[in-house]
Amino acid sequence: MARRRPVSSLLPDFPWDTIASAKALAESHKGGIVNLSVGTPVDPVDPLIRDALAAASQVPGYPATHGTPELRQAVVDSLTRRFGIAGIDPSAVLPVIGTKELIAWLPRLLGLGADDLVVIPELAYPTYEVGALLTGSQVLRADGLTRVGPADPSLIYVNSPSNPTGRVLGVDHLRKVVEFARERGAVVASDECYLGLTWDADAVSILDERVSGGDHTGLLAVHSLSKTSNLASYRAGFVTGDPALVADLLEVRKHAGMMVPFPVQSAMAAALNSDEHEAQQRERYRVRRDTLAAAVRGAGFTIDHSEAGLYLWATNGKGSRDTVDWFAQRGILVAPGDFYGPDGGKHVRIALTATDERIAAAADRLR
Ligand SMILES: Cc1ncc(COP(=O)(O)O)c(C=O)c1O
Repeated sequence: MARRRPVSSLLPDFPWDTIASAKALAESHKGGIVNLSVGTPVDPVDPLIRDALAAASQVPGYPATHGTPELRQAVVDSLTRRFGIAGIDPSAVLPVIGTKELIAWLPRLLGLGADDLVVIPELAYPTYEVGALLTGSQVLRADGLTRVGPADPSLIYVNSPSNPTGRVLGVDHLRKVVEFARERGAVVASDECYLGLTWDADAVSILDERVSGGDHTGLLAVHSLSKTSNLASYRAGFVTGDPALVADLLEVRKHAGMMVPFPVQSAMAAALNSDEHEAQQRERYRVRRDTLAAAVRGAGFTIDHSEAGLYLWATNGKGSRDTVDWFAQRGILVAPGDFYGPDGGKHVRIALTATDERIAAAADRLR
């Protein structure tokens, strides 16, 4: 009998484990830790969303993998209202159990294997690489098409606004990616987790008519409700775009039991139908960002990009692990830039996801 090869052996060490000692140091600060490492929401879930969850909690049956018609319509309406995206049919919407789940399994769900190449940003959310490793696919880090060169990718990830850098890609850049992908028969997966959290730049969806030319073929937009609606604990996201690709994903996910719980689907619909709580949350982050950015700059750091999203991408020219320690000595935990790719070795990522009180404490300590 062939010996079992644990899947975990294909994957890198879990990166957060590597900053355990910095975390312990930050926790020992007399004023307590200010944890700006993982970008996890801290503000309460809006009552409107909680009520929708509670009202659906008596339903005993299995939820539809495709999502309720109400949820899919709410997705279409919200994308039109919030981002001006037209031409999505509700049948081309598919809820997912948080977008990390979708991203980790997307290469597998699309049928990629060892002969396929997945292009990911040079500094990237680590799960893009994890998904490719799970199928044994090759990975190329490339922000520009010249770096891709003659390679023939099957899947290209874009992430604008970016985690970790907060960089926003313009219409022209995204359109060129779409044209290139279409020439080579690649799927473009656009991770739009932070599309609703822009500060100094406008971000557009891959499905925006100026980018897609009104044709969603080969394009997938991935949206999370974790950050914009504080729903990280609910596990709530969706993917939409090319109707044929979405239909294929649906087919596999039905077989694999990858369905979003019914009460969460109800909560998602309520969240997507309400722009007010989202605007309030964005405002909270805007204030925190102003406070933190001034303090970080005051402490001698340069903030690069960061024109959108939930992070400050900061450097003082030193190695990112030394900088993590520097912050930890002040009771502040940040993420080393090398988590996101080799080019991140001189930056740290500072999340805006802490209470006003903790952000004020961090600013005080940096002064
Ligand atoms: C770029 C990016 N994509 C996807 C996710 C996953 O979000 P979730 O699984 O909560 O939908 C995150 C979470 O931080 C992220 O930063």
